[in-house]
Amino acid sequence: MAFPSSRPISSSFDAMARDDDGLTAKNGQKRAILYVLALFVVFLEAGLYAARQQSAPRAAATTWTPSLKRGENSKTIDHPIPKLMAEAEDNFRNLLQRQSKTLDEAVAEYQRRYGRNPPKGFDDWFAFAQSRDVKIIDDYDAISEDLSPFFNFSGAELRRRVSQVGHLPSIDLVRIENGKVRAMNMQQNLGQDIEISERANGFRRIVEKFRDRLPNMDFPINGKAEGRILIPWEHKQYPNLTVQDTSGGIESVLGQDFTADWRGDGNVWESWRRICSPDSKARKLFSSLQAPASPKRPENLLQGAHDSKLSSSVEPRFAATVDDNFDFCKEPSAHYMQGHFFSDWRTIPVLYPVFSPAKGQGYMDIRIPSHYYHQATPMYSYGWDTINLVGKEFDDMETAWENKTDIIFWRGATTGGGNTPTGFAAQYQRHRFVRMTSDKSKETRQVVFPSPEDPSKFVSAEVPVNELNEEIMDVAFVRLTGWANYPGGRAALRAAHRFDKSVPLGDHWRYRYLVDVDGMGYSGRFFAFLASDSVPVKSTVYSEYFSDWLQPWLHYIPLSQSYQELYDIYAFFSGATPSMMKAVNSTSSSIQKPEDGERRLRRIARAGKQWKKTIGRPVDMEAYVYRLALEWARLWSDDRESLSMRVSQSNGTDVLA
Ligand SMILES: *[C@@H]1O[C@H](CO)[C@@H](O)[C@H](O)[C@H]1NC(C)=O
Ligand SMILES: *[C@@H]1O[C@H](CO)[C@@H](O)[C@H](O)[C@H]1NC(C)=O
Ligand SMILES: *[C@@H]1O[C@H](CO)[C@@H](O)[C@H](O)[C@H]1NC(C)=O
Ligand SMILES: *[C@@H]1O[C@H](CO)[C@@H](O)[C@H](O)[C@H]1NC(C)=O
Ligand SMILES: *[C@@H]1O[C@H](CO)[C@@H](O)[C@H](O)[C@H]1NC(C)=O
Repeated sequence: MAFPSSRPISSSFDAMARDDDGLTAKNGQKRAILYVLALFVVFLEAGLYAARQQSAPRAAATTWTPSLKRGENSKTIDHPIPKLMAEAEDNFRNLLQRQSKTLDEAVAEYQRRYGRNPPKGFDDWFAFAQSRDVKIIDDYDAISEDLSPFFNFSGAELRRRVSQVGHLPSIDLVRIENGKVRAMNMQQNLGQDIEISERANGFRRIVEKFRDRLPNMDFPINGKAEGRILIPWEHKQYPNLTVQDTSGGIESVLGQDFTADWRGDGNVWESWRRICSPDSKARKLFSSLQAPASPKRPENLLQGAHDSKLSSSVEPRFAATVDDNFDFCKEPSAHYMQGHFFSDWRTIPVLYPVFSPAKGQGYMDIRIPSHYYHQATPMYSYGWDTINLVGKEFDDMETAWENKTDIIFWRGATTGGGNTPTGFAAQYQRHRFVRMTSDKSKETRQVVFPSPEDPSKFVSAEVPVNELNEEIMDVAFVRLTGWANYPGGRAALRAAHRFDKSVPLGDHWRYRYLVDVDGMGYSGRFFAFLASDSVPVKSTVYSEYFSDWLQPWLHYIPLSQSYQELYDIYAFFSGATPSMMKAVNSTSSSIQKPEDGERRLRRIARAGKQWKKTIGRPVDMEAYVYRLALEWARLWSDDRESLSMRVSQSNGTDVLA
């Protein structure tokens, strides 16, 4: 059986959010029942999927929930959110319960997942993780996924690629040498901490924690927020068809004058669509460049991308997870909705190893924790202590839940994409979001909300968007940058979007719903939002090192790229607003709160906070990087066997990698 059945359950529960509202098992008896149920699930899993490589805690792909069951009354609807929340809780409980408790178990689980022995030093890593109460012991599939393409290179080839890519613009090296670690920039040949990106310095600070336990090696660190490595489909399928031989130097594969930016020669989308298979829509030039159907409401296009039948449906649609798996190969016109396809930074079409904080679908970068998450900073951290200049558990500006305003809040700059090609910024993720939520037109949109007669039932109606936005949205840009990519420039951008004055991060805690939208890359604020006592509502196309550890609908609310379901999300948790009541001619004077809505919302706030405190700690990031570094050391070596852990199998088989 994959997961020994004799594990104590209590420690697993400790990392779950506590809930004094009674939604979680609170007493021993309930725990015992759940334990038996969990064992049953574990048994089923082990029996049915013994051969599977991984069991992702998240839904496998982005999907809308399947068609809803109608209630007895044809006007009322069974809401999908309770089911999503229940599944999320099960998934996360499972994730925690199945983690190995002993080194032997961890080694066996490693072998089961990856078909080879753990890297040398794995036992030290295990001790490091145990002593720091690291909850995640086995689920590091992100490391395996990111590094697997490099197993095919010899150590010498890998080292050559590292050294070559280390000379490219906006790539720094973090070097471990005789137990010391430093960040350096080879391009300027300074060999010291001058003009080193904050990302490289952040990575260096993590490696400091265990540098004396690692052999000499280098890590090429991406200085940019955007992913860098995009390998054409043909090369991945038939490496013999494309020349990617680095023996003649990096110029021989990237050309003599590789520049950091595009300079009119290509763009991200042109490179990105080459990763798709030749029969995909994205590879057909016409489909690939086809503009979105309706410029006024470009987000309609994304709805169609999920399921064309849905637009005429009255049922609420919710993303099962964030859109980090959204397939732009199949829906190429959706690329206009995401700024990262318009980045000014040139992507690299050769398999060079580059360590990056996040990656979009199809990128081959190796994920590492963002420096914004690891070290407390005033701009990006919850609980920044302005006197001692460190992070602390409670933010001075935190507001009691009862006193948090029940609306949706977002502030940010007009970033979120480059200018290559120019003129597309109106459809970037932030711009679309600000326009949708400050739309003052009298158009209507369909919203699903608790019935005024019976708040345990849901009804749907057309509600004027201007009234909805007035009631529940407080969204604005606070800073204008990069307006050159906006059609009509600065004045047009200002005229079409709501602007307000900047706020400190701490102002966010006054609101219950905090939307988190990608900027130039992943959103560095996300961990602060999780740590707060408010609820993050996150939309992203990136996956990060923690993506398999964090459970949508338990720790945060996932939001599709179209944002269309945001109004339904609000109504489910917070109830019908006056404009919704008016839309069904309700004469009821009091606003209908759904049963359990607020309790569920608060539960997500607490679960996210608890996750940040127990699994999203700096030391958990260190455990991730430590393990990644051991794997990297093995790849780096000419003798990978000597850098593998010696394991004698109890069944007498030697499976050294
Ligand atoms: C991996 O390496 C083997 C031999 O070293 C080679 O035949 C094969 O084509 C490589 N595969 C890839 C995907 O590079
Ligand atoms: C490349 O390899 C594939 C199989 O991996 C083979 O079918 C094809 O003929 C090879 N092409 C060349 C040009 O050698
Ligand atoms: C909510 O705000 C009021 C007014 O500022 C304050 O008196 C009260 O203590 C706050 N409630 C909590 C639970 O902090
Ligand atoms: C609300 O009242 C108006 C005017 O009487 C009517 O046209 C409309 O159908 C009613 N809507 C609902 C949902 O009952
Ligand atoms: C021994 O254990 C290894 C690793 O778990 C496994 O791959 C192998 O199939 C086992 N061999 C036998 C004979 O059971």
